[in-house]
Amino acid sequence: MRNLDQDTITQAVIAGFEQTPDPRLKEILTNAVQHLHAFARETRLSEAEWMEGIRFLTAVGQQCDEKRQEFILLSDTLGLSTLAVAMNNPKPAGCTQATVLGPFHVAGAPSYAHGEDVANGAPGVPCLVRGTVRGIAGDALGAARIEVWQADAQGLYDVQRPGLAQHQARGVLHTDAQGRFFFRTVVAEAYPIPADGPVGALLRATRRHPWRPAHLHFMIEAEGYESLVTHVFREGDRYLDSDAVFGVRSSLIAEWVPHDGPEGRHYTLDFDFVMNKAAV
Ligand code: BEZ
Ligand code: FE
Repeated sequence: MRNLDQDTITQAVIAGFEQTPDPRLKEILTNAVQHLHAFARETRLSEAEWMEGIRFLTAVGQQCDEKRQEFILLSDTLGLSTLAVAMNNPKPAGCTQATVLGPFHVAGAPSYAHGEDVANGAPGVPCLVRGTVRGIAGDALGAARIEVWQADAQGLYDVQRPGLAQHQARGVLHTDAQGRFFFRTVVAEAYPIPADGPVGALLRATRRHPWRPAHLHFMIEAEGYESLVTHVFREGDRYLDSDAVFGVRSSLIAEWVPHDGPEGRHYTLDFDFVMNKAAV
């Protein structure tokens, strides 16, 4: 393994994986090296440019901590997250489609009963969200676990507010025997993804905006069904066709209906989820 040049280096590295006991790891590494080397060749990558790439990836890593996941942002803004979701969550016609998880899902969301206010003090215009969870055959799914999280009127998730003592605009509910759920919250607003790190610099260098259209996140689990990670997007949002993370699907867009009463304006949102059977 001497005197390697641009024609022989790729095969030499791949041969080094020959003894890898895990066949899937071997396949992933082999493909990764093949594509990385092809990328360098096709781009005619200079050493200075690759150093810049290493500097950028280092900055992405240094931006990560328990509250901030810059690598997820990078994957999301490069469309890799949407590609992985689309490849791994094909849903038959009639099922609710999946979309990206995003970096703001955290463990430990508080539990709520039907009708309670998951906003828990988050600023925003009141909104009532209601719907059902059903199986693909139309059967109501009782006791399905619904986790919801969203940005508030200022476009912030609770985890982006330092010092907040309790979770806001985030909660867990369970459907009733008829598969129904309803909860109060505040209207979700469009927001820019965190752009003060290296991913933000990449967006600016490529003249892309950091905005996501207004949405609620849902993670739904029901026994015997594939778990579903998805959003409901707000009809009419100006960013529906230029989502910074490529997550919008037409079937996930719904209307937030305004109502004006003696206590001012509030909204209702109705959305029904349809779950795909888990493979047995
Ligand atoms: C989100 O919707 O929470 C999100 C998704 C991808 C990147 C940033 C935020
Ligand atoms: Fe979000």
